[in-house]
Amino acid sequence: MSLLEVNGLNSYYGDSHILFDVSMRVERNEVVALLGRNGAGKSTTLKSLMGVVTPRAGSVIFDGTDVAGRKSHKIAQAGMQLVHEERRIFGSLSVEENIVLAGLTASKRWPLNRIYEMFPRLKERRNNRGNELSGGEQQMLAIARALIRDPKIILLDEPFEGLAPVIVKDLMKACRDLAAAGQTIVLVEQNLAATLALAQRIYIINNGHIVHEGPARELKAQPDILQRYLGV
Ligand SMILES: Nc1ncnc2c1ncn2[C@@H]1O[C@H](COP(=O)(O)OP(=O)(O)O)[C@@H](O)[C@H]1O
Ligand SMILES: [Mg+2]
Repeated sequence: MSLLEVNGLNSYYGDSHILFDVSMRVERNEVVALLGRNGAGKSTTLKSLMGVVTPRAGSVIFDGTDVAGRKSHKIAQAGMQLVHEERRIFGSLSVEENIVLAGLTASKRWPLNRIYEMFPRLKERRNNRGNELSGGEQQMLAIARALIRDPKIILLDEPFEGLAPVIVKDLMKACRDLAAAGQTIVLVEQNLAATLALAQRIYIINNGHIVHEGPARELKAQPDILQRYLGV
């Protein structure tokens, strides 16, 4: 059985119907990407998996249990972590306090050392406050806050957005190391090159509908799809 099996997910904001019968699956140890234009429904999909948005129909079978409709802290307890686009770190707390605090309520935890091995930059900055960090360091911290809880699956919402290429390179290396260590990842991105380099399988969402599913290596040879749904 897949680690995550999503079937017929429908989500709304008020009366606006945003997700239409979204179905996808993620195997254990797999890196799956969800691509799509701005406003296509990528963040809403991740929020619906995580229970930040409550889907109105459909199932989210996570590690054998349907978590659709549960509160997000319950879903977090079950081993899912969402790193939001807006990162959500505590600016007034130190890097280390941010990480430790995030791990407090977890049933299992990474040792801090493992976090610092993955992000040496955070170790150097451990006593700096969140609001003293660069954008790239904030993103590392946001990911670290998810990893400290030893998640079964981590959902990354546009982790490379707005970051300098040199930082993107560091972050991509961290993601590759994570994947190599067996971490299951769902990656939402608009950065096609980064996505194709990291993900094994790709879904494309357009106007709230999944319009493509396939191996990443095949997508490179399908410029028509890239053009139609991503405008590249
Ligand atoms: N909190 C919200 N309230 C109402 N509409 C929203 C809200 N968040 C997103 N939307 C709308 O839902 C659609 C999908 O948004 P989103 O999932 O954020 O897209 P993406 O992440 O792919 O850019 C867009 O049309 C967006 O304007
Ligand atoms: Mg988004």
